[in-house]
Amino acid sequence: MGKDLTKVNQTIFICNGGSCKKQQAEDLTREIRCELKMAGLHEATHTIKTLCMGQCENAPVMYTEADNAWYKQMSIDRINRMVDHLASGNGDASDNILYRREWDKMKPVREITPKTKSEFKLIDDAEYGQIECIKIYPWEFNTYPLIKECLNGKWKGFHVKCVHRELYPGYCQIKYDGGKVQVACAKSESSVVFVLRAPADSSDFKYKINNVRLFKTVRGDLSGLQLFNQAEGKILEATWADNDILWQHLVDNYARISS
Ligand code: FES
Repeated sequence: MGKDLTKVNQTIFICNGGSCKKQQAEDLTREIRCELKMAGLHEATHTIKTLCMGQCENAPVMYTEADNAWYKQMSIDRINRMVDHLASGNGDASDNILYRREWDKMKPVREITPKTKSEFKLIDDAEYGQIECIKIYPWEFNTYPLIKECLNGKWKGFHVKCVHRELYPGYCQIKYDGGKVQVACAKSESSVVFVLRAPADSSDFKYKINNVRLFKTVRGDLSGLQLFNQAEGKILEATWADNDILWQHLVDNYARISS
């Protein structure tokens, strides 16, 4: 039977993702659980091992839910101080806090360059004339939702072309499987596979989406989203007219995010 959660007043998330494991996260997990037990905090504190918590440069990382605090570079000594603090209120375990909710700035081990740092550029496009465009970082946590944005039919007025065939938003079945997305379109009886993730030495690598572009014509009559791979060039294009809400949604959530 699981722990009686009515007795829990603190939950500690302990990252056991790849980078944290390289920094002894498994040992730290065992030690914090041991220290909590010895301090009589087993019932009141719940620990959860997680996969990567997205702060690898600060590994090994923990997060305490009750006080909304992220801890960086955890060590046995820091665990001892944290548990002591939880048990008695003594000591100070805050020298390695990465972020607390009320802070307006993080204190990372090192600053990292945002993945999406590109700015809008004005270029001449063979098909659309002068366009203003911005690159979106082509990792699968962008490309997978973007494919769904294009094809699930939520946004009206999309015209979607995939390599040489039309795909009809709202008529597509989208299935994710091991770094690939399979799209079957009932209306055009088309089916297509997009590679979102592939090892550099695999035959799929040249089909992996490696470039994503969001654009607007300077004339202001059309906006679009284009996905490219190395082998085929442009593989998916969605265009639409007059939808500022959609444009802003894509800029804010895909192009102008901090990492
Ligand atoms: S592996 Fe722990 S934060 Fe990424």
